[in-house]
Amino acid sequence: MVDIGAHWDRVHATQGPTVVPDDDEVGVAGLRHFGDLRGARLLDLGCGNGEYSLYFAARGAQVTAIDVSKVAIASLTASCAEAGIDDVVAIRASAFDVAELGPFDAVFGSMILHHLEPFDAFVDVLAAAMAPGGRGFFYENNAMSKALVWCRRHLVGRFGIPRNSDDEEFPLEPRELGLLARRFTIEVEYPTLYLARMASGYLLRGHGERQLGWIDDLLYPIERIRRLSYRQYVKLTGAT
Ligand SMILES: C[S@@+](CC[C@H](N)C(=O)[O-])C[C@H]1O[C@@H](n2cnc3c(N)ncnc32)[C@H](O)[C@@H]1O
Repeated sequence: MVDIGAHWDRVHATQGPTVVPDDDEVGVAGLRHFGDLRGARLLDLGCGNGEYSLYFAARGAQVTAIDVSKVAIASLTASCAEAGIDDVVAIRASAFDVAELGPFDAVFGSMILHHLEPFDAFVDVLAAAMAPGGRGFFYENNAMSKALVWCRRHLVGRFGIPRNSDDEEFPLEPRELGLLARRFTIEVEYPTLYLARMASGYLLRGHGERQLGWIDDLLYPIERIRRLSYRQYVKLTGAT
């Protein structure tokens, strides 16, 4: 049995906190979906060092930030103490235990959903954690492209192509979006096409990522290709 807390402690021990700029694309898209956050109770799920917790707290949210890593939570607690921020509560907790911390008007997550298994059980927890009409915003990866999934399975960790993921995680699958759709109104947005650039990571070890951007830009208007993008925003609205 993998100790996920210890795994993430090791990851976070090598990463210091960074600051999310005001015009951060994910942050701005989250705000667009959440609306006015002043006084809102917001959960930052799998907060890591808590960059987005601080971003949303600066916009008036009362933030509860949870992560399974004690190193990540210690880092966020230290950042808050240093900056004199008292509207962020950082708690070491599993994503499966957040219902008892709610209810939340807004739930934010960056690159967390695809780590959570069994996902159907997590969807129930999320629904229980949200206030009526609450909103969720998740920045996620996407398993829709069979070609990228094939590359991930067969090339990563071989031929000198680095493995940046752990053995347990897998990009968010269409069937998992289906599970969310059973409990929430769901809208998926592909802010940019990230496909040729992602493939360059697998096939060219990242060389040419910048140069291949024009292919992604060219193909972006084609809806059935855009849905293959490796990056997506999953926007949820709970029942009232
Ligand atoms: C890819 S990192 C993203 C961190 C942060 N949200 C960001 O965007 O920088 C995933 C985070 O989820 C946390 N995590 C993984 N599984 C978790 C779980 N079951 N419950 C709570 N946190 C978890 C990890 O400790 C890690 O901080």
